[in-house]
Amino acid sequence: MSEEVVESKTPKRYAALTQSSSLQKLNEVETQDIYKRQTGISEFDRVLGGGFVAGGVILLGGDPGIGKSTILIQALSVITQQPSESCNVIYVSGEESSQQIAMRARRLELEVSDISILSEINLEKIVSAIEKHKPNVVVIDSIQTVYSEELTSAPGSVTQVRECAAQLTRIAKQYGITMILVGHVTKEGTLAGPRVLEHIVDTVLYFEGDPSSSFRMIRAAKNRFGAVNELGVFAMTEKGLKEVTNPSALFLSHHSERVSGSCITVTQEGTRPLLVEIQALVDGAHGNSPKRLSVGLENNRLALLLAALHKHAGIACFDQDVFVNAVGGVKISEPAVDLAVLSAVISSFKNQPIDPKTVIFGEVGLAGEVRPVQRGQERLKEAAKLGFTRAIIPRANLAKQKINHIEIFPVDNLSQVLSLIRD
Ligand code: TYD
Ligand code: MG
Repeated sequence: MSEEVVESKTPKRYAALTQSSSLQKLNEVETQDIYKRQTGISEFDRVLGGGFVAGGVILLGGDPGIGKSTILIQALSVITQQPSESCNVIYVSGEESSQQIAMRARRLELEVSDISILSEINLEKIVSAIEKHKPNVVVIDSIQTVYSEELTSAPGSVTQVRECAAQLTRIAKQYGITMILVGHVTKEGTLAGPRVLEHIVDTVLYFEGDPSSSFRMIRAAKNRFGAVNELGVFAMTEKGLKEVTNPSALFLSHHSERVSGSCITVTQEGTRPLLVEIQALVDGAHGNSPKRLSVGLENNRLALLLAALHKHAGIACFDQDVFVNAVGGVKISEPAVDLAVLSAVISSFKNQPIDPKTVIFGEVGLAGEVRPVQRGQERLKEAAKLGFTRAIIPRANLAKQKINHIEIFPVDNLSQVLSLIRD
């Protein structure tokens, strides 16, 4: 439980609501094509749905130190240097000093002569600076440090974060500014974190990635100007974030010898298929309750899949600890990974490696049936392109045309998979 002070004063912005509004028929509303200002970083543009939109509010969330400030300063540097159009940018920093940001930009060898920096955390002062300079793009790094004098609660509290974001959104819409709010995902859940803002903003982007690996992913969780679940892939280098434009083979660990408990699957991230290695470790449990742990995959789904595996394929894991991991820190939420998870589990349980040139995908239902997945063809083509020669897939995903160099094994249910998982 955390205490929140309820504000008694009605904030100014509600005053506007008392004016009456006129009704308009939807088909009479004038529309125009939305112009998108490209950031020049193609992977970032991909998750943004093309680029920055005037009046669009973007929330960029992620763990501290994952690279939010880095990607933004890189993108701002590019858009302010575009010779075809001028772009006025303000970077509001409440976390790092101007010197720190300047030093980073210098180290990254970025041209930042057209980026104005404002070290300020007072909302009213930020708003008046924006109103005075009328920039095209504003970055607030981070929204959790900003506070409004009109509220009595502490900076970073839910009330402050929400109210400041609402005020900044209003300013963005009013002046047609692209507003980028940086938000830290807090360790203790996400109480005052970016989650409370998701409904206010137009676009929600989350950084993900294993801190120990150099790869960083940005995922669009919501986008009013483009597709969701689009994934941008970057590598953190000493010269900042570099885009990885062809990441499909990134999440495979290349074993020198065959190991059990490893299974390659093809997941569809936005418009791109990605090959990911799923690893499982099944080992005799000590104690009463066996452990179930998954990294990058849903934990509850693992328990459900193991129950289906017992019931429909006769493999009992109730006395086994089961650990599952998606290699490379990628997060997979789509059920198409189910069959690969269970195949890795079976492989580890039986200590029997799966042929490393096999890809496996499919959703598993509670009745043990293997259900089709979206865009099966594209997944198979990508696997074939990367040199995979066998694919175990749902029967309903069976192609009408043959795909070259890959042998397809269609399955209807879990028990059929058992005989196909072989070295
Ligand atoms: P940063 O963008 O400051 O993170 P955030 O704003 O999300 O908190 O990124 C900081 C991390 O990135 C820091 O741990 C160092 C690393 N980094 C590099 O490895 N190379 C670089 O060129 C830069 C700028 C940062
Ligand atoms: Mg930062």
